[in-house]
Amino acid sequence: MAAITLLSTKALSRNFGGLKAVEAVDFEVTQGEIHALIGPNGAGKTTFVSLLSGRTAPSSGTVTFLGEDITSDAAYERVRKGIAYTFQITSIYPKLSVFENVALAAQNTLQRTSAWLSWKNQALESAVVSALEKVGLADRADVKAVALAYGHQRLLEIAMGLALAPKLLILDEPTQGLSDSEIDGFCDLVKAVSKDTTILLIEHNMRVVMRLADRITVLNGGQVLATGAPDDIRANEDVQTAYLGGS
Ligand SMILES: Nc1ncnc2c1ncn2[C@@H]1O[C@H](COP(=O)(O)OP(=O)(O)OP(=O)(O)O)[C@@H](O)[C@H]1O
Ligand SMILES: [Mg+2]
Repeated sequence: MAAITLLSTKALSRNFGGLKAVEAVDFEVTQGEIHALIGPNGAGKTTFVSLLSGRTAPSSGTVTFLGEDITSDAAYERVRKGIAYTFQITSIYPKLSVFENVALAAQNTLQRTSAWLSWKNQALESAVVSALEKVGLADRADVKAVALAYGHQRLLEIAMGLALAPKLLILDEPTQGLSDSEIDGFCDLVKAVSKDTTILLIEHNMRVVMRLADRITVLNGGQVLATGAPDDIRANEDVQTAYLGGS
């Protein structure tokens, strides 16, 4: 099967004052892959995916999604086109139920389409239930989000992303703060989700990266240090020096 480029960037940059947080990044995500984005703290990973999702405007460069230049699209337009993003910091609505959190995420998008669906609409309800089933939270649909354990709150966020039926799901450090057994469950979930959805995964846990990623891009000081298959990245001397500490 010929590889289709789902998302790409050309010379994408973002400065904060004199700081080049993201500098001239050329990057490609292929449809169907799990692409991991790694790099030391402050490498520019969150800034880079904020440029992809439209939360942050670039200083220069372009973002292309399915062949279309989306650089000047607002964040909600990108969501509508199929880019979903979960935050590095947990961002659920604590007082709402699990179901309502996912319904709100889905509805926020649907509301902006011509086919607006009401709260009780069956299509919305089944999208929510299906997203909750995928992450294993269907039996907690009526629980207030604040009452969930932390690991389950992170799963809820993923469900909020999945309810948008995205073409590209961007996960920013989803395993941060999870226990080892939760991380195992998370890896299984990402594998299952990746059957229908391309995934861009920012991740510090190298065990998770090596287990899940088809390809890895390494950012360092805002620039791409290397891109390749996990074995190539592991063997790359520049990467070892900059990031893996030679181990
Ligand atoms: N809104 C902002 N204003 C000023 N500087 C910023 C802003 N956002 C990020 N930075 C800076 O840009 C650089 C890249 O930060 P970013 O959060 O993208 O890194 P990261 O790779 O996601 O790091 P981490 O692994 O710690 O999450 C850092 O030096 C950071 O301090
Ligand atoms: Mg970050």
